[in-house]
Amino acid sequence: MRFIGNKERLVDWIYSAIQKNNIEGEIFFDFFSGTANVGKFFKEKGYQIISSDLLYFSYVLQKAYLCNNDTPKFKKLIPTLDIRSSLLVADNYMLIIEYLNSIPVVDGFIYANYAPSATKHLEQPRMYFIDDNAKKIDAIRIKIEDWKSNDLIGENEYFLLLACLIESVPFFANILGVFSAFKKDWDKRALKPFLLKPIKIFQDCHEHFVFNQSSLELLENYPYDIIYLDPPYNQRQYAPNYHILETIAKYDSPTIKGVVGMRNYDNQKSNFCNKTKALNDLELICKSKNYKYILLSYNCEGIMPQNSILEIMQKYGDVKIEEYDYPRYKSNNNGRSKYKKFIKEQLYILTNTTYDKQVQPTSL
Ligand SMILES: C[S@@+](CC[C@H](N)C(=O)[O-])C[C@H]1O[C@@H](n2cnc3c(N)ncnc32)[C@H](O)[C@@H]1O
Repeated sequence: MRFIGNKERLVDWIYSAIQKNNIEGEIFFDFFSGTANVGKFFKEKGYQIISSDLLYFSYVLQKAYLCNNDTPKFKKLIPTLDIRSSLLVADNYMLIIEYLNSIPVVDGFIYANYAPSATKHLEQPRMYFIDDNAKKIDAIRIKIEDWKSNDLIGENEYFLLLACLIESVPFFANILGVFSAFKKDWDKRALKPFLLKPIKIFQDCHEHFVFNQSSLELLENYPYDIIYLDPPYNQRQYAPNYHILETIAKYDSPTIKGVVGMRNYDNQKSNFCNKTKALNDLELICKSKNYKYILLSYNCEGIMPQNSILEIMQKYGDVKIEEYDYPRYKSNNNGRSKYKKFIKEQLYILTNTTYDKQVQPTSL
C-alpha cells in the first residue's frame, strides 16, 4: 500500500543492520505499525511480533497479516452461498473473493459521501470514487459485516476480508497518494471497475499480538528483545491523510466535515508530530527497562534533531547510527519534471545497558 513512511523498501537494509550489529532476540515490537509491512517481514524471518498503531485500518492489516498463520477455510460460510466451485479457483478463499466481486452494488455511506452523483448538491461534489466503485465498496463492506454478525465467519476470516478491501481501495481512488484531497479531474486508475484482490498470508507457528492503541501504553506488557520505532517524521498527522480508509475499516457512519468529508481524529493525534512532545515520548520509551534494543528509523529531515535524539538515548545505553542514502523523487519546474534527491535514512541502534532480566514479564 502507498503509505507515507512505508518501510517496505527498507526492511532488507534494517535486517542486514540487525545482523551486522549482532542484535539478538525473538520478540519484536513494531511500535508504529502503519501498513504492518515491518511486522510482516519480521514474522517471515521467524520473530514473534507485537504491534500497534493509533489507526484502526492499520489494526485491520495487522490482524490479517500477523494473526492469520494459515489461509482460513471459510468452512461455515461456503455452504450457505450459492456458488459452484469453478475449476479455475484453487481454494475457498479465492471463491469468497470471486463471490464478493460479483455481488450487486449498494448505495451506502461511501457512495452517499464520496461519489459525485450523491454529493452533487455540494459546491464541489466529492470525486473520490466513481459512483459504481463507491457502491461496490459499500456492498462488499456491508456483506463482510453481515457475515460476521450472522456468525458465518470467524475473527481471522473477518479481518482477512477487510484487509483485502483496505488494500484494494487505494488502487481505485481518485487521489494523489493520500486521502486528504481528491483530484478535480478523473485519474485513469479511478475509472477502472473496482476489483477486490486477495492478500497473501504467510504461514507460521508463532502467536502474534496486535493492538489499536498508543504503543506507549504497551511498554510494560511484554519482554521485548527489539523495539522498532518508526514514528511520524514531521508535523503532518496520519489520520487525516487516510480518513476514508479509516471509515471503510470502521464503517461507523461518522459525522464528517468540509470539502473532503473529513471524520474527527482528535483521539488519533500523535505526539511524534510535535518536536517537544516527540522528544518527551522518546525519553519515556528509552527509559522503560523492558527491552534489550531500540531501533529508531528516522531521517535527517525529521523534526527531532539528531543531537537531541542522541542526548536522550545515550542516557540509557550505547548508541550507534547506521545510514543509508535513500532516493526520493521531487518535482520541480511546476511539476513538469522530477529529479532524484538522496536523503539520509538513519537507523539509531540503542543497546539498553539497564536491561534487567529479573523484572521482565516472563510470559506472552
Ligand atoms: C512512519 S509511519 C509507520 C510506517 C510503517 N513502519 C510502515 O512500514 O508502514 C508512523 C505510524 O505511527 C502511527 N503512530 C503515531 N503515533 C503513535 C503512537 N503513539 N502509538 C501507535 N502508533 C502511532 C501512525 O498512525 C502511523 O501509522
